Amino acid sequence: MIYLITGANRGIGLALTKEALRRKHKVIAAVRNPQAESLQNMIENGENIVVLKLDVSDCDSIKKFVDELEFKVDVLINNAGVLFRDKFPNLKYENFIKSFETNALGPLFLTRELYEQGKINKGGKIINIDSILGSISNTSATTSYSYSVSKAALNMITKLLSHYFLKENISVLSIHPGWVKTDMGGMEAPITPEESAKGIMDLIEVFEGTGRFFDYTGREIEW
Ligand SMILES: NC(=O)c1ccc[n+]([C@@H]2O[C@H](COP(=O)([O-])OP(=O)(O)OC[C@H]3O[C@@H](n4cnc5c(N)ncnc54)[C@H](OP(=O)(O)O)[C@@H]3O)[C@@H](O)[C@H]2O)c1
Repeated sequence: MIYLITGANRGIGLALTKEALRRKHKVIAAVRNPQAESLQNMIENGENIVVLKLDVSDCDSIKKFVDELEFKVDVLINNAGVLFRDKFPNLKYENFIKSFETNALGPLFLTRELYEQGKINKGGKIINIDSILGSISNTSATTSYSYSVSKAALNMITKLLSHYFLKENISVLSIHPGWVKTDMGGMEAPITPEESAKGIMDLIEVFEGTGRFFDYTGREIEW
């Protein structure tokens, strides 16, 4: 199968890329810097990977990326994301705009461009890497207002697209990867990127239905 993974150069995206390759899939790694050493090493090792430039917060970049894409995708993993630590009342307007563009509009407009150009296979899967911090039901506090608001918007995007894509038999999920040791999650996080990626890949292979919200262990999360 062909996997398209955004933000594939580090953190959870890199671990997902390695896990997908280990499972004999082809990976299109969509990243801001295609020269990233982590990916160049894989190319040199002859892995089944294509690295392409993509800034998910930029519509022109999305259009150019999809124009140049020579494959039809079976699984799109919208993984790229940003987090700014801001709490009420110390908020920055720009953090909300950047978070919204990257975490919510990026997945939506990338999906739309792929669909419009016929580059998502019927029966395919769209996986939005979301966060428990985007669950309204589970909210008591948050590490970041701009992050939680953008991830809650991504959850709505999952739900809306799941209805639209019923006719194409394309399923759409939100997945919370757990609290993961990455630049974003910090070193005190309990889960490694490899554990999270393995759980997510297992789930992608077996889940049923569409428009659902899971964590990386397969536990369903309330919206
Ligand atoms: N770590 C956690 O505990 C945790 C928990 C819940 C949810 N998540 C979600 O999991 C996903 C991956 O997080 P992570 O922990 O792996 O984060 P990370 O280590 O900070 O990596 C973020 C990735 O996103 C990419 N990215 C950011 N903005 C981008 C843009 N405009 N266009 C393309 N790529 C962009 C980064 O690329 P550059 O290298 O170019 O910056 C990097 O590859 C995110 O959606 C995050 O919200 C993480």
